Amino acid sequence: MKGVILAGGLGTRLSPLTRVTNKHLLPVYDKPMVYYPIECLVNAGIEEIMIVTGGNDAGDFLRLLGNGHEFGLQDLHYTYQEGEGGIADALRLAEHFAEGDKIVVVLGDNIIEKNIRKPVGQFFTQGPGAKILLKEVPDPERFGVAEIDNDRLVGIEEKPKDPKSNLAVTGIYMYDRQVFDIVRTLKPSGRGELEITDVNNAYIEQGSMTYAILDGWWTDAGTFESLHRAWQLVAQGGANRLDVADGGLLGAQESS
Ligand code: DAU
Repeated sequence: MKGVILAGGLGTRLSPLTRVTNKHLLPVYDKPMVYYPIECLVNAGIEEIMIVTGGNDAGDFLRLLGNGHEFGLQDLHYTYQEGEGGIADALRLAEHFAEGDKIVVVLGDNIIEKNIRKPVGQFFTQGPGAKILLKEVPDPERFGVAEIDNDRLVGIEEKPKDPKSNLAVTGIYMYDRQVFDIVRTLKPSGRGELEITDVNNAYIEQGSMTYAILDGWWTDAGTFESLHRAWQLVAQGGANRLDVADGGLLGAQESS
């Protein structure tokens, strides 16, 4: 199984912090933001990772991360998203890298407390389809929101005014090879982006989407409020730090 981190986009909600650097290179407490999704994947036992970046400062990712040796990786793969066509547009660029394997996708501004090794392992054995991780939040209208009927996931609404639940769709998505065919069918949304929620709804309609509730805290860091919250959570409780003794790369066989 391979990992993809989506770190493109222009980060305009954090302007002027993002005027001369990429959002995912901004600090969150003691590390640049992009470290957290990398550690999330490495701790799940994933050893092949591609970073999709974009904007004016893409070269800085290479200067910061190099081949990922700091994370115990042999190398890191990079690709470049032109413009800000949406999360699914950025994902499209990982097709060649995925080579038909299942992938775990993490948004570059998502930070979690615990390890996702268990749901990743479940996805590996589930057969074709996809899996998403949900989390109860006090402000679901900021996110993709799951509609659940008798434990069954029946649909997702992107930033609904009137959310049908308080379960946000976190930025951790697991897909089989079909995902790239689904992305090719998408039309830009009202905000001119290819939406990841449309991809997820396509899997739900097919009946091949599973879900789990994420263990531990989760936050994004794409607004001033959530960036501040991310700093606080990381500073207080630590995040999903690279911890080889706790599985890390040693857990690779479990999930790949
Ligand atoms: O954080 C979880 C939420 O992320 C989900 O609940 C939503 O369903 C999903 O649409 C997304 O919502 P946001 O509005 O928070 O996404 P945002 O535009 O902030 O993008 C999140 C990350 O995705 C960003 O840090 C980098 C990547 N991205 C985004 C865009 C628009 C790209 O790589 N390229 C892009 O063009």
